[in-house]
Amino acid sequence: MKNKFETRAIREQAERTQHREHSVPVYLTSSFVFDSAEHGQALFAGDIEGNVYSRYSNPSTDEFIRKICLLEDAEDGIATASGMAAVFAGIAGLLESGDHILVARSVFGSTHQILTQLLPRWNITHTYVDIGKPERWEAEIQKNTRMLFLETPSNPGLDLIDLEFAGNLSRKHNLILNVDNCFATPYLQQPGRYGTDLIVHSATKFIDGQGRTIGGVVVGRKELIEELRFFARHSGPAMSPFNAWVLSKSLETLAVRMDRHCENALALAQFLENHPKIASVKYPFLPSHPQYELACRQMTQGGGVLVFNFSEGFDPARKFIDRLQMLSISSNLGDTRTIVTHPASTTHSKLTEDERLSVGITPGLVRISAGLEHIDDIIGDVEQALG
Ligand SMILES: Cc1ncc(COP(=O)(O)O)c(C=O)c1O
Repeated sequence: MKNKFETRAIREQAERTQHREHSVPVYLTSSFVFDSAEHGQALFAGDIEGNVYSRYSNPSTDEFIRKICLLEDAEDGIATASGMAAVFAGIAGLLESGDHILVARSVFGSTHQILTQLLPRWNITHTYVDIGKPERWEAEIQKNTRMLFLETPSNPGLDLIDLEFAGNLSRKHNLILNVDNCFATPYLQQPGRYGTDLIVHSATKFIDGQGRTIGGVVVGRKELIEELRFFARHSGPAMSPFNAWVLSKSLETLAVRMDRHCENALALAQFLENHPKIASVKYPFLPSHPQYELACRQMTQGGGVLVFNFSEGFDPARKFIDRLQMLSISSNLGDTRTIVTHPASTTHSKLTEDERLSVGITPGLVRISAGLEHIDDIIGDVEQALG
């Protein structure tokens, strides 16, 4: 019988050394030695498997990749220095000049920059489709469309995409379905169940969960990962073994941390929903979320992030943020510390106003990543800041 999620996250470990350590050590080495000239030759020729150089593979990095594969139920993966390196590798490692990507609008700001500023240099084009109108997506598929890329829940709008629908559409048109699963983590949502070919994570967020490292990972179908491995080996976005070791340890506590993130986020969302100064609140597991039913179907809990709106725009949002005493004002998310972000002036400031409004980023929108502090203290700070 397959072990449960928590057990898999804890018990998958790199092979024990002759020292019989209980906690796996970090393999902080750039290269590995060969037993003989013949051994080195065989490793380089690919006749035998083994570590050669940490840009290619490393026991700490491999342990992290194996854990994510187990948690996402994926065949293989690569780990990268950041979430953006994972997003870029997952696209640039597979597509060619002349190819086209269908993208569900409302992707992370740097993903938007890759699509609009970088990929066109190599003649890889994209079309944004409306998250709220999936019935129109099929009409946007072109002869050269090779990939469907999406985020669900989206950042920061917290809109959801039906993964079963996306899986069926991708299979029908032979598209590579590439899902950024950063907000949900494999604990809350497993896109692989719906036929997703590639799953991307910014490990910087809930996977680290303690705001210490930058990292990314792409897992998925073996033959696609083989191509990405070639791309990553030679273009070099490898994750540092130290970060892989930190992230691997973090995965051991992912389930308990996510339970508390979700519990705190839901309680804060409920508090804000009943506050007279707040115009609207969005959180996937609030019954008022327009896609509440879908959220309950494809996620086990609502996640650690919520957004809310001040109807009079930026001024009250700024005042609220400046009055906070405990909560951190930062652009990150998925930390033990509760973080407040104003997307329009920070993470999504490079978008035009129209682009922002089309994905629900109004001037009065505030994003909160609920941390692991006591919920009474989180709500207490928010309540006093609302005045
Ligand atoms: C949904 C999503 N994808 C990708 C990224 C990029 O990850 P990183 O900052 O680790 O490069 C982020 C970062 O905030 C994100 O929120």
